[in-house]
This record gives sequence, structure tokens and C-alpha cells, in this order.
Amino acid sequence: LAYVLLICIFRRVPLILIGSCSSAVLSAASVTTVPQRKLHHAVIPKGKGGRSSSSGIAATVFGATGFLGRYVVNRLGRIGSQIVLPHRCDQYDIMYLRPMGDLGQIIFMEWDARNKESIKRALEHSNVVINLVGREWETSNYRYEDVFVTIPQQIAKAARAAGITKFVHMSHLNADIRSPSKYLRNKAVGEAAVRDEFPDAIIMKPSEIFGREDRFFNYYANMRWFGNAVPLISLGKKTVKQPVHVVDVAKAIINAVRDPDANGKTYALVGPNRYLLHDLVEYIYAVAHRPFVPYPLPRPLYHLAAQFFAMNPFEPWTTADKVDRFHTTDLKYPGLPGLEDLGITPSTVEQKAIEILRRHRRFRYLEADLDETKPAKTVNY
Ligand SMILES: NC(=O)c1ccc[n+]([C@@H]2O[C@H](COP(=O)([O-])OP(=O)(O)OC[C@H]3O[C@@H](n4cnc5c(N)ncnc54)[C@H](OP(=O)(O)O)[C@@H]3O)[C@@H](O)[C@H]2O)c1
Repeated sequence: LAYVLLICIFRRVPLILIGSCSSAVLSAASVTTVPQRKLHHAVIPKGKGGRSSSSGIAATVFGATGFLGRYVVNRLGRIGSQIVLPHRCDQYDIMYLRPMGDLGQIIFMEWDARNKESIKRALEHSNVVINLVGREWETSNYRYEDVFVTIPQQIAKAARAAGITKFVHMSHLNADIRSPSKYLRNKAVGEAAVRDEFPDAIIMKPSEIFGREDRFFNYYANMRWFGNAVPLISLGKKTVKQPVHVVDVAKAIINAVRDPDANGKTYALVGPNRYLLHDLVEYIYAVAHRPFVPYPLPRPLYHLAAQFFAMNPFEPWTTADKVDRFHTTDLKYPGLPGLEDLGITPSTVEQKAIEILRRHRRFRYLEADLDETKPAKTVNY
């Protein structure tokens, strides 16, 4: 740089050109190693850390229009991040995401998961990529292989090619190649595919997530429409669940993004307590002040009923795969870091259930005290 400065002065090059001259030399030097990024100057951290400051994070969040997405975008927005939200729905359907960040900090852009160019475009201005793409059921256009393996693999590949260093991928606690659930088998393959493409990826393995818009507590609570009769394989007494709250998962993602040591790690995100599925659903009905009428349903019969619901071309209420997934005991990963390692104290079901279940109560119990409800029994196996 000093050499360039000297030459410029010696040759009486106007000083105004020195900046462009030196940056040309710098970019020429860097062109061989770092790919050209169009990062905006605003990604330099500044301010007090609130919504109108700059966290230094410019994140592309794939799958932000889903259940978990809004919580992640909200957490990113409140610390002052720039967020690119690739979506495939009408822009007006996701206007609720717009106020989650400061003016101009949230950018919507259309994308097509099969179009590599559109993935590349979505990453162009970011230094963090978060993949939340997922689907509970298969469609004729997108099978589980596409959603859980091919799309994450393409995103990971594009992120690495773009020189991005932070990539967060959502998997599942029970992802296992031997699982009876095709969803969970593909999640396991997806994890490996992402690691291959992006060895430094941060992989999050949450158990079933509960929260206001979830498809777990609400699924069981909605069975009140069938006369409160809840079908459970072996009455839910052979399945152990350790659900995690959605806010804790969102916080974990943000903390992992900000933690320089998180790269390349896999996190198991679970709640603090383990419950028998039977006791958990019983607690859901107790909080909702509804009678709980469980009945044992053999797996083949449950599958048959689920296949009927799966014919719904829009959002099937349940599928045979979901039945298997919900009746899979949550795995324990004592060797993997978890929420505590990211500085988060996990919330219990008892603390948060009311937020989800109040709307399932009858009018006369709407304001009933939560203290009246006995906490669900926990197990330690
Ligand atoms: N919810 C849980 O209990 C739970 C538990 C463990 C792991 N996970 C994983 O965590 C991630 C987020 O979960 P979630 O509950 O927020 O999922 P979700 O509500 O089903 O949202 C999924 C998101 O993925 C997008 N998406 C799905 N298929 C797509 C495709 N073919 N092309 C482009 N976008 C597509 C959806 O976009 P559209 O809105 O356009 O459809 C949506 O934004 C998923 O990977 C899920 O498997 C969830």
C-alpha cells in the first residue's frame, strides 16, 4: 500500500484516485483466495445491541415462513441483523415477518429450491446461512429426499462456494437411518450430506418442538374434535418424549451463530424433562380442562386411519409417518453439547403449555388457574 502511495505521489496522480488504486491492488491480491462477496458495510457490528444497531450478522434464512422461522427471524431482528428471507409464497402472506426487524433490514426474495442460481442469489449478501426447510408430509413435487437431503445439500454447497463461514442446519433428535419413519431416515442422510458439503456446519438436533403454532401439542389437543378420544399405540406407555420449547431452539440458533467455537459441532436440543407420551397427552388435556379418553390403537390400524387423512391434498392432519415419528422414543445423546452449552436454561412444559393450550379450553375455563393442574409425571429412562 505504501509503495502504491509513493508511486501515486511521485507521478502526481490526484489523491482521489489513490483509494481506488489501492483497493484495486487489494482486490487483485485477494481474488485468488477469497471469492468476491458483495457484503454491505452495515455488517460491521456497531451500536448498543438493540434492534436499531448492527449485530454484524447478515443472515439468509431458508424456510423462514414456517413454525420455527418466525422465532428465528424475530431473534435476529431484535439484535439488529440484516435478514434475507427467500420465500415461495405471496409476499403479503409473510408480512407478519416485516416488523421483526428495523426499517429496511428484512428483505424478501423469491426462490426456487430446484434452481441453483436462485440459491446463489439468496446468499450473495450474507455471512450467515440458516436452513429451516422442512415438511412433515411428502407431496408429488417434493419427497422427503428432496426436502431433507437434496435441498440442504445444495444450500450447503452454495454457501461454501460463496465463502460463507456460518451455516446452521436443522435436523432432528431422532434422525436415524434405521428409524421406521422415512422423515427421520432422510434427516439422518441429510445430516451426513450437509457435513460432507460443509464440514463446519452447525447441526441442530431438536426433539419435537412445542410452541403456539406447533404441530405436536396442538395435534393432540385438536383430537378433542373426535370426542376427546386420543388413539395412542400401546396407550403411549412405551414411548418417552422430551419436548423442547420453540423459543429455546431459536435462541440456540442465534447463540450458535454468535459463538465462534460452535462451528462444526452438532447440538442435541431437548427440554429438561422426559415424559411418557401417555402422561404428556394427559397433561395437555388437563391444562385444556378437557376429559382425556385414551385408547390403544395397534400400529397397522393407526396407519390405515392416517393414510385416509394423508389423502388431503393441502395440509394433512396426520400421516402414517407422523404416527411413527410421534411414537419414537427420544434418543439420549450424553456426548453432544446442548442448550446449556449455548447458555440457555431450557423451559419446562409446565411453564409454557398454557400459552399453547389456553385456546383449547372451553370459555368457562379460559382464565382458570394453572396451579390447579397437576404437573405431568417425569421419567428418567
Ligand atoms: N417442528 C418440529 O417439531 C421440529 C422438530 C425437529 C426438527 N424440525 C426441523 O426444523 C425445521 C423447521 O421446522 P418447522 O416446524 O418450522 O417447519 P415448517 O413449519 O414445516 O416450515 C418449513 C419451511 O420450509 C419451507 N419449505 C418446505 N418445503 C419447501 C420446498 N420444497 N421449497 C422451498 N421451501 C420449502 C416452507 O416454505 P413454505 O411456507 O413455502 O411451504 C417453510 O418455510 C425443519 O427442517 C424441521 O424438519 C422441526
